[in-house]
Amino acid sequence: MKAIVCKAWGLPDTLVLEDLPDPQPGPGQVLLQVKAAAVNFPDVLIIQGKYQYQPPLPFTPGNEVSGVVLSVGEGVQAYKPGDKVIAFSAHGGFAEQMLAPSASLMLMPPGMDFDTAAAITLTYGTSHHAVVDRAQLKAGETMLVLGAAGGVGLAAIEIGKALGARVIAAASTDEKLAVCQAHGADVLLNYSSGDLREAIKAATGGKGPDVIYDPVGGAYAEPAFRSIGWRGRYLVVGFANGDIPKLPLNLALLKGASLMGVFWGEFVKREPKANQAGMIQLLGWLAEGRIRPHISARYALADTAQALNAMAARKVTGKVIIQP
Ligand SMILES: NC(=O)c1ccc[n+]([C@@H]2O[C@H](COP(=O)([O-])OP(=O)(O)OC[C@H]3O[C@@H](n4cnc5c(N)ncnc54)[C@H](OP(=O)(O)O)[C@@H]3O)[C@@H](O)[C@H]2O)c1
Repeated sequence: MKAIVCKAWGLPDTLVLEDLPDPQPGPGQVLLQVKAAAVNFPDVLIIQGKYQYQPPLPFTPGNEVSGVVLSVGEGVQAYKPGDKVIAFSAHGGFAEQMLAPSASLMLMPPGMDFDTAAAITLTYGTSHHAVVDRAQLKAGETMLVLGAAGGVGLAAIEIGKALGARVIAAASTDEKLAVCQAHGADVLLNYSSGDLREAIKAATGGKGPDVIYDPVGGAYAEPAFRSIGWRGRYLVVGFANGDIPKLPLNLALLKGASLMGVFWGEFVKREPKANQAGMIQLLGWLAEGRIRPHISARYALADTAQALNAMAARKVTGKVIIQP
């Protein structure tokens, strides 16, 4: 089978496409024919050795996958060859075949296509854990989403709207903001120029957002945190802008505000039942049309580096899918 292989830490162009022996499922594992694998910003970091988790080299990146079960290992009873499944694995997704722990699989609901199935675990799981579980956003509250046209950002917008909140989308171009509007954002804020604090103040009538969802970090974080409302919840989701910001703690005191860390991968390991409940709610919203993953581009397996380069260059909206 063909697979993308990371042999040494480096940028996407250092990845190679190789022919590898077909994997065999061990106890508790399922072997999948990968139909679609979504690209996420953490993939760009993992191959450079810059992520919280570093797989041993060589490895195949990619962890948000949909596919068809080819065979199952000892002890697996819940799945059989031919089942269409949604899968999440530590790595291995950018390949024609992938091994996944059976506990990480879900059957694809009838009628769901493979691309959508590959776009809802990590991205929507992260934003659901952040917005519903950590921030406990309520109907009528206001949430500001930074990097709002990206994978987790668009998911946060849709989840905010599904909960009945008012959502302010902030992004770097008007084209990206148009995508945010199409996914339900109430207010659009282009943060590529101008004073971010003033813009947030104007968008909230001076009150400040109740929740701020930040997957970007860098220079946006401090002005955003300074603008948060009373009893605000600031969700630390990621640092796509590169720099990990430092915040003066008096800002939290002045607003009675909370800084909330979000680490979905660890949440899944430590609280699998809570994650499962979140996924069930997400699948319900998907069936009702309240959420719909935005697939902006599809690439062949051989072009995986191009997909990762586009993401690193800030050129992606919503989700990008690799179709092996
Ligand atoms: N905590 C967790 O559990 C968890 C889970 C998944 C992802 N994440 C993190 O969340 C962040 C977003 O992930 P994603 O998959 O949604 O990525 P994405 O689709 O690439 O979105 C990231 C957004 O960040 C903005 N951005 C600002 N400066 C950037 C830069 N220098 N390079 C690239 N993007 C930049 C871009 O929007 P504008 O151009 O509009 O600014 C972009 O749309 C990443 O840091 C990722 O590691 C965290």
